[in-house]
Amino acid sequence: MDEVIDTRRLRNALGCFATGVAIVTTKSAGQAPMGLTINSFSSVSLEPPLVLWCLDKSSETLPAFTAASHFVINILREEHQALSNRFSQRGHHRLDDVDVLIGTHGIPALREALAHFECAIEAQHDAGDHVILVGRVVAFDYAEEGAPLLYYRGKYAEVG
Ligand SMILES: Cc1cc2nc3c(=O)[nH]c(=O)nc-3n(C[C@H](O)[C@H](O)[C@H](O)COP(=O)(O)O)c2cc1C
Repeated sequence: MDEVIDTRRLRNALGCFATGVAIVTTKSAGQAPMGLTINSFSSVSLEPPLVLWCLDKSSETLPAFTAASHFVINILREEHQALSNRFSQRGHHRLDDVDVLIGTHGIPALREALAHFECAIEAQHDAGDHVILVGRVVAFDYAEEGAPLLYYRGKYAEVG
């Protein structure tokens, strides 16, 4: 195992861990609703129900997410590659022409997602070049049918 950390190789090694893909949405006061593609989502605790995701401090969405009281994690389906690409582009985070549902706290959620977790922000932790956002799940739903979009070695993948 290497002792000096080569960032490119570290990124490649981390990419061996296959994940799902989500778009996290929010709406903070005075700002347009927005969404950001992420794969750092993780479940944390069942009692209380906590999840987390990590936000790059250089993201243009940082002010909105760190000011918001709530966010929604929208788990993407395998047919959502184009949506994932769109919400991973700087300057393309507005939810203007996307089919949304409005949750109990006024946060938009993507109607077609495989699952939704509506969360109140429980904590924000500084972590290197990212901020860890911990959310307490206040509402959720999921579809009985459908397959998730996966991300593995820097590329999209599908189950099976
Ligand atoms: C599959 C995938 C997963 C990503 N996961 C994260 C993530 O967990 N956290 C994050 O801050 N950015 C993540 N990104 C990057 C953002 O979606 C986005 O590309 C980046 O933040 C662009 O800069 P901006 O936020 O200033 O527009 C991911 C991108 C892709 C395509």
